[in-house]
Amino acid sequence: METKDIGSTLEKIIPEAEDFLPLNGTDYVELYVGNAKQSAHYYKTAFGFQSQAYAGLETGMKDRVSYVLMQDKIRLVLTTPLTKDDPINEHLQNHGDGVKVVALWVDDATKSFEETVKRGAKPFMEPTREEDENGFVIRSGIHTYGETVHIFVERKNYNGPFLPGFKKWESHYNPSPVGLRYVDHMVGNVGWGEMNTWVDFYARVMGFAQLISFDDKDISTEFTALMSKVMSNGNGRIKFPINEPAEGRKKSQIEEYIDFYGGAGVQHMAIATDNIIETVTALQARGVEFLYVPDEYYSDVLDRVGEIDEDLAPLQKLGILIDRDEEGYLLQIFTKPVVDRPTMFFEIIQRKGAQSFGKGNFKALFEAIEREQESRGTL
Ligand code: FE2
Repeated sequence: METKDIGSTLEKIIPEAEDFLPLNGTDYVELYVGNAKQSAHYYKTAFGFQSQAYAGLETGMKDRVSYVLMQDKIRLVLTTPLTKDDPINEHLQNHGDGVKVVALWVDDATKSFEETVKRGAKPFMEPTREEDENGFVIRSGIHTYGETVHIFVERKNYNGPFLPGFKKWESHYNPSPVGLRYVDHMVGNVGWGEMNTWVDFYARVMGFAQLISFDDKDISTEFTALMSKVMSNGNGRIKFPINEPAEGRKKSQIEEYIDFYGGAGVQHMAIATDNIIETVTALQARGVEFLYVPDEYYSDVLDRVGEIDEDLAPLQKLGILIDRDEEGYLLQIFTKPVVDRPTMFFEIIQRKGAQSFGKGNFKALFEAIEREQESRGTL
């Protein structure tokens, strides 16, 4: 993959972060799913991802099948086991469809493994060299929250379509992209009292610094509450908010996630666009469902956030949320869960200067989520 220009607004140096683990960006996100062929069709049709690479029986892989999809700098891998004894089956049984791997693009996967393991990471994959006619890749991996892992990918000596063993996936069905550009942040939900454990993990083991924290006073409604801290690597390209449930009058949405996912895991993947109105219009037309935002939200939103470049009417029609911090504003929207269990969803975000995460929207958002929870009888 070519060198990524992630955009100057993200190149803010976080001074407290340490640089023993230089990260170039998110390399890929791998989901274990029950039926990769059909999931791939969904991500192409609904989200505008493009066919990129494939591995399965036809390419010599005997026990599983993986479809790789791309849109601009985002690479999704969808993997399903082909035999009953494959350990991926247990993951699917425990968690349903969900994110297994958040892979990070590095220059040196061996050093990334050694430095993080030295600082206390639990090894998942020893540095491994994989090669084919397109060159070689070195990958290594460590465990993070739940059964989720980080894999470090060193691909500077490789020019194939994805990884050794994968073939270019040629398809006659190529729905157009919808303007999704790169992974802005990936959010983890962890159990009661575990947020600081994982904040410490990202600080101590990966050299990340804390950007922001929200406590349950910031992020609570009449019924539900959560706490959140945002961890970032030094160049700001990798941002991992960590949520834990907090006590409210009814069940926290984080607890609902933990119950259905069977533990900690990735709650949402936030994807950046340069034109959220066009992107969300296209996604809705293709069947992606978004959380409903009440009209009342828009009656006073401009009093809260001040002047914005966009007309309010299309934002309100689509249900796009607006927030402002000291550096600018942002536009964001959240899908409903994209899997059967009420677990993983997507956020679409357009940053107009703001580097924060929409704190001012939490209350409005969570009230919208609670209406969804209520309809499932899990509030
Ligand atoms: Fe988010």
